[in-house]
Amino acid sequence: MVRELRITPIRNGTVIDHITNGLALDVLRIIGVRDLDKDSTVSIALHVRSGKIGWKDIVKVENMELSPRKVNAIALITPSATISIIRDHQVREKRSVDLPEHVTGVVRCPNINCISNQGEPIESDFRVVRRRPVVLRCTYCDRQVTDFLKHLA
Ligand SMILES: Nc1ncnc2c1ncn2[C@@H]1O[C@H](COP(=O)(O)OP(=O)(O)OP(=O)(O)O)[C@@H](O)[C@H]1O
Ligand SMILES: [Mg+2]
Ligand SMILES: [Zn+2]
Repeated sequence: MVRELRITPIRNGTVIDHITNGLALDVLRIIGVRDLDKDSTVSIALHVRSGKIGWKDIVKVENMELSPRKVNAIALITPSATISIIRDHQVREKRSVDLPEHVTGVVRCPNINCISNQGEPIESDFRVVRRRPVVLRCTYCDRQVTDFLKHLA
């Protein structure tokens, strides 16, 4: 079977595949593409046909590996995503994003009176109380959050 090549291969970097259809730009925001070296190519494919999930988006970033915090943020908005590390043109590691029990420093608490919003050296912390769809609850004030995109730290 001939595999369709949607995006130029990269030598070193990260592939975020199986992103929920239409969410690639939010993934880019999480990655923070503005911080990347200007000589690192970022490729984006929107609305690609996928056997597994119907339609999907893909993001490929050269010369970058994701921090655990960014992986958690991606897991929040698109738990279907897989992350592959490419080294010397080969897939060296491939894994599904995985949401931990607690999400720390990723989402801001929407409650302005929450202790995590008072300029204290306290990182936001949410317990994952439901997974699909994801529901978070603030460890400090119990506020529930479902619209993560609006509240990404
Ligand atoms: N050199 C490369 N440059 C850019 N992307 C690559 C490269 N090699 C693999 N990929 C991408 O990395 C991901 C994982 O590669 P792999 O070959 O394991 O995927 P696959 O066979 O399509 O499996 P699956 O879709 O189940 O993850 C895919 O999205 C693939 O397109
Ligand atoms: Mg594939
Ligand atoms: Zn709170």
